[in-house]
Amino acid sequence: MKSLRLLSLLLVVILVASPLAVFAQGGDDEMEAFVSEDEKVTFMYPAGWFTSEDPSTPFPAVIVANSETARDKLMSDEDSYPESGEVGLFVMLLPSAFLTLAGVEVTEDMDAGDIAEALAVALLAPDEGEEAPEFGEPDVLELDDDMGSVGYLTLADSEADGVFSAYEIENDVLAIAYIATAAGDLSGDEGSDLAEELTAILLDVVVTISYDGTGDELLMQLMGGGPAEDESGDTSSAPALDGEALVMERCSVCHTTDRIFSAVKTADEWTVTVDRMIGNGATLNEAEREAVIAYLSEM
Ligand code: HEC
Repeated sequence: MKSLRLLSLLLVVILVASPLAVFAQGGDDEMEAFVSEDEKVTFMYPAGWFTSEDPSTPFPAVIVANSETARDKLMSDEDSYPESGEVGLFVMLLPSAFLTLAGVEVTEDMDAGDIAEALAVALLAPDEGEEAPEFGEPDVLELDDDMGSVGYLTLADSEADGVFSAYEIENDVLAIAYIATAAGDLSGDEGSDLAEELTAILLDVVVTISYDGTGDELLMQLMGGGPAEDESGDTSSAPALDGEALVMERCSVCHTTDRIFSAVKTADEWTVTVDRMIGNGATLNEAEREAVIAYLSEM
């Protein structure tokens, strides 16, 4: 799944966190506010840390690091991992429907911790030949006043140690925060103090995340529709939509198009398949649906 690959890449990227005397910020828990450029994403983060929006993702994502150089390193495409003293905190917003796309089946008996764990496992699925991360026991932080609950757990792999959290905020929006430092730094007796400290920072941040929008909007963005297209309104009167371009763009979000081009189906069968894909989450309006079916039936 392309979107998932992108996410795991991002999670790797955040591990690119950088050096810093971060923990030396003195015992005060002072926080400052982050507000995204479009003013939709807000959250509080440790005062003195550095933030940057990641423009390369199809969903809101913000990188926070404990130094400016760490932040810049994180934002670059360079492939590196945190060293001791470096902390990267990654905040992103996803539609709750992403859980289904990620193959996570949410059942009644799952609490926020189970959901966070399932999500972390799905997002961080190892590539072939890579070792799977080690996941700790999930925990749940219950919030006051019907604010829901945050699920979180530690995870460690050969590249980084960190704590992952997920929290369903309003309007079917999922707030995700992940904090990471050097591999091995959160294990052992010494590590447990630092693990506690990072977990506290993470939870302080994750509970403050808010998004001025809905899960549906995020889903559109994720699926490549983009808000701009959304505003163009009723395209059913638009002339000749390009079925091929639509297939390349909208049908490659969750699986490769190989799957499509290797299938041999009649127009009726494609209608059934395309409708099922729309049920799966593919974004096509009526006119686009028809253009896609017409293209697939003729190819
Ligand atoms: C939101 C995610 C998502 C999008 C977007 C998506 N698919 Fe799928 N697709 C799936 C999933 C999940 C499966 C496997 C389960 C199933 O068949 O429903 C699948 C399976 C398929 C299959 C193999 C099964 C079969 O019936 O032959 C084809 C072909 C296919 N998709 C075509 C498409 C086309 C064409 C589009 C664009 C209109 C599309 N997909 C967009 C999620 C998606």
